[in-house]
Parts: sequence; C-alpha cells; structure tokens
Amino acid sequence: MRQTRRKFLVQSALGIGAMPFLAAKIRASAVISSGLAEVFKDDFHLGTAISDATLKSDDSTLLNLIAREFNTITAENAMKWEGLQPSVNQFSWKLADDFVNFGRKNNMLTVGHTLVWHSQTPDYVFKNKASPASREILLKRMQHHIGTVIDRYKDSVAVWDVVNEAIEQGKWRRSEWLKIIGEEYFGKAFAFARDADPTAHLIYNDYNMHNPDKQNFVISQVNKCKKMGITVDGVGMECHATLDEGPPVNEIETAIVNFARAGLKVHISELDVDVLPSAWDYQGAEIDVNYDYSEKINPFKNALPRIVSAKLAERYRELFELFVKHRDKITRVSFWGTTDDESWKNDWPVEGRTNYPLLFDRSRSPKDAYFAVRNLKSQ
Ligand code: G3I
Repeated sequence: MRQTRRKFLVQSALGIGAMPFLAAKIRASAVISSGLAEVFKDDFHLGTAISDATLKSDDSTLLNLIAREFNTITAENAMKWEGLQPSVNQFSWKLADDFVNFGRKNNMLTVGHTLVWHSQTPDYVFKNKASPASREILLKRMQHHIGTVIDRYKDSVAVWDVVNEAIEQGKWRRSEWLKIIGEEYFGKAFAFARDADPTAHLIYNDYNMHNPDKQNFVISQVNKCKKMGITVDGVGMECHATLDEGPPVNEIETAIVNFARAGLKVHISELDVDVLPSAWDYQGAEIDVNYDYSEKINPFKNALPRIVSAKLAERYRELFELFVKHRDKITRVSFWGTTDDESWKNDWPVEGRTNYPLLFDRSRSPKDAYFAVRNLKSQ
C-alpha cells in the first residue's frame, strides 16, 4: 500500500511508466495462472474501475478476479462529490473506505476519481440558500472538499483526477464552477490538491482527448498553471472507444505524443469499446446526453456474434499495440469496468441495451479480446 504508492511516485518522477527491462514472454492459454497486469508489468500499470454495486455487495468472486488481473483501481462512482459529501460538511466514507481498503489489501495503485466535476456534484455546492453561491464561498467549499478527501486517503491514494471534463473541444465547459469562479477554478483545484498532498500525482481527466482543439486547450491551461507555479503531472485520456466509429488509432497516438511533449504523463483512464450500432452522431461521454431505445440498436441481446467478438479483439489488439509502443509516455491503462454486465455502456447513451465493451463476459470469463491483448506479449 504505502509501498505501492511510494514506488509509483518514484517511477513516475523518473519518467518511467514501468520498469525499463524486457518483458517476459507469456504464452496465451485458456488456463490463466497470472493476471494481465503481470503481463504488462514492464510497460505500464494496468487497472480497472470498481462499481458501487460491487463494493456494496462485497462481490468476492468479482473482487478476486480484479485482484488477480489488475494492479490498479479507480472507483467508478464511490469517490465522487455526491457520494462523499452529499450535504454540506456531512461526509459519508463507507464505500470509498471499502474501495481504498481493497486496494491496500491487494497492494494496488489506487486512483482517486474525482475531486472537481460538473456532474454528480450536489446542487447545494453551488448555492447559498436560494441564491447562487459567491465566488468566495465556492472556492472555500472546493478547498475544504479537496483537502478533507485527500487528507483522509493520502496514505493510500497516489493519483488524483483533480479536475474532470472541464473542457469542450477548444473552450471551457460552461459549468457552475466556471460561471461562479471563472477559469481560475482549474488552477485553484490543482493548487488545493497540491497543498493537501505535495507528493501526489495530480492529473486532468477528460474524454475525446484525440480531438486536436481539446488537446491544445488542455495543454495551454496546463502551461498557464505552470507559469503560476502550479504543476499538473499528467492527463487522463478516457478512451471510451467504439468498434467502427473511432477514434482512429493514429489520432489517439497524436494525442499521446502531444501530451508527452508538453511534459505530461499519459494515463489511459477509462478504456472500453462500444460494440453496438451508433444511431446518433455522438462519440463523447457526456452523461447528460441520452437517446431512446429501439430494438434495431440493440442487436446482440442474447449473445455477441463470433464475427463481432473477433472485431472487438482486433480493436483491443491495435489499441494495446499502440499503448505498448508508447510505454515510455504511458503511466497507466485502466479499463472502465471488468465484466460486460456491469458496464455503464449498457445504459448509455441508450438505456437497457446489451453491450460487450470489456475484456470479461457476463459469466466472468475472459473473452477473445482478453487473449488478443495478452497474446501481444507472447509473440
Ligand atoms: O446511485 C443510484 C442507485 O441508488 C440506483 O439504484 C441506480 C438505479 O439506476 O442508480 C444509481 O445511480 C447511478 C450511478 O451511476 C451508480 O450506478 C446513476 O443513475 C448513473 O447516472 C451513474 O452513472 C455513472 C456516471 O459516471 C455518472 O456521471 C456511471 O456509473 C459511471 O460509469 C460514469 O463514469 C464517468 C466517469 O466518472 C467520468 N468519465 C465518463 C464516465 C462515463 O460517463
């Protein structure tokens, strides 16, 4: 735990995603004796997100699978503001404690997700009785929340998604944070986090980071912070990908290279691959966007056809080939969940579909995609 955190921070300060020596060759086999994280241990940390449902039910089968396959965890929802501080100064730690304790018990790199976001943040945060909160009050609330949360977990959590999804293509998202505080809220959040834990690895996390306007905007804000003496250590590229609709590997690659050139460590923070037909022209992860259900856009209700499973495997293979190629720039690759049944992609952007975006199926068995990723290291 403390040792995992220290080891991660030292490696990341030295600029190595993982150890620089050659990876051991691992033969693919239906019998898995060691997990995927072990396979990529010389490249980057390999992680997954743990859902509230898994934490609440203390689902030991799934938790054991996670402990075997991954060395890094993110809480899918348990560390968001609405869960941690549902009303002013009333903190509710149970689920987040369970999450952090699981990481500690299994010696995992634990990622804190997320401190400042427009979504899953209760309305009271932005209010003062019936009026909008003043800039001063909101900054105080932000500082208090960040300070309290980091302080509780600073012995175990090494990486924090300090600000989440603050940018829309080439401009600021018009969130309450922006409207009330102004664009300085971004730097303030990082400064408060740094004060709370000077040695933590602090990152900015967002989707559609392959978009050049978004990349440039992120980099310019990080540089502005740097001029003010505020260090942002890295970026989380969420990578909610699709089978056919992108983003193309070359665009992801350009983003990885550009962020690294700007001095940022790259985290692939929420990887999944949506296999369902897109009935809309939308590729982001904006949670407020939803579309109506129809049978036509839920074609794999009973099973994933072999041909689609093979395409999914190929898509994951090409993504991991890219990540390994840039292992010197990539600190971590985390999936946004472990088994298909628990993925948010079953309910977004259309509720009630059957999706297959992850490496393990509904019976918790590794899929073709799992072996495609694993086999990359045995050739
Ligand atoms: O907590 C209630 C629960 O009490 C109720 O029984 C259940 C019934 O629907 O709903 C539960 O809340 C849901 C929550 O997930 C926990 O399952 C919310 O309705 C639902 O909106 C929420 O969705 C989460 C979403 O963030 C919210 O913004 C997804 O699980 C989570 O995967 C998703 O994660 C985000 C990252 O934090 C940031 N990047 C994008 C990513 C995908 O949107």
